[in-house]
Amino acid sequence: MILFKKGDELKKYLIKKTAEGISIGFVPTMGALHEGHLSLVRAAKERNRLVVCSIFVNPSQFNDPQDYLQYPKTIDQDIFLLEKSACDILFLPEVQEIYPQNYTPLHYELGSLETLLEGKYRPGHFQGVCQVVDRLLAIVMPTILFLGQKDYQQCMVIERLIRLKQYAIQLYIVPTMRETSGLAMSSRNLRLTEQDRAKAAAIYTGLKHIKSQLQPGNIESLCNQVTADLLEIGFDKIDYISIANAKTLEPIDVWDGETALVVLAAAFLSGVRLIDNIPLT
Ligand code: PAF
Repeated sequence: MILFKKGDELKKYLIKKTAEGISIGFVPTMGALHEGHLSLVRAAKERNRLVVCSIFVNPSQFNDPQDYLQYPKTIDQDIFLLEKSACDILFLPEVQEIYPQNYTPLHYELGSLETLLEGKYRPGHFQGVCQVVDRLLAIVMPTILFLGQKDYQQCMVIERLIRLKQYAIQLYIVPTMRETSGLAMSSRNLRLTEQDRAKAAAIYTGLKHIKSQLQPGNIESLCNQVTADLLEIGFDKIDYISIANAKTLEPIDVWDGETALVVLAAAFLSGVRLIDNIPLT
């Protein structure tokens, strides 16, 4: 695996590879890698000659400074896992490399994606995600970008970014990887105790319960029940459990039996914010 720390050097290297007709798969991450990330690397490897992974904990997407400071960092282990997964290139920039002194943040027109769900509870988060992903895409210019479905709304935001910037990049979304308990794999799980991890699986159990109960008509109460159940077993706070239109994320209280739906959740356990989702139809 080749390590690049400078964007211009990586860009120059990849422009040459593209000119040789080599396809590039790109997996952007914030490190603290787990099986979920490695499934993205594998998917990228299956579909491209060259796989680039980036590790950069992006300060501009953290609306809570404490969350940024506490974000897990396991760089030696990450490098070991990427080498084992046959990743070809690791891009490991410093903050000044992505946001040099003369960097002027752009504003991205994200519409209601910025006010619904994650947009509502993490103001500014998706602008930060767009800033960093835009910078990374401009450097890597991949053939295919690989993202995980666990960040359902982020996938929609980045799809929109690609359209806004007219990047000729395909997006490939990889299904969520889960622990045996059903808990969605996340770097943030590292901040949970064993006991909390077992408890955190209740989010997925709740989402599956909603799926099993889904019927056309009024469906609002399904989410209220799961919210109450999570609080009952000791979750600190529930930002949302929402059944939404799978294409727009607008909340759906009364279902016509046909609209494609997704149920999404964000909840705090022992101070750690966890998100998950499953398609319902
Ligand atoms: O999903 C993540 O890890 C981050 O939001 C991303 C896409 C790497 C941008 O920092």
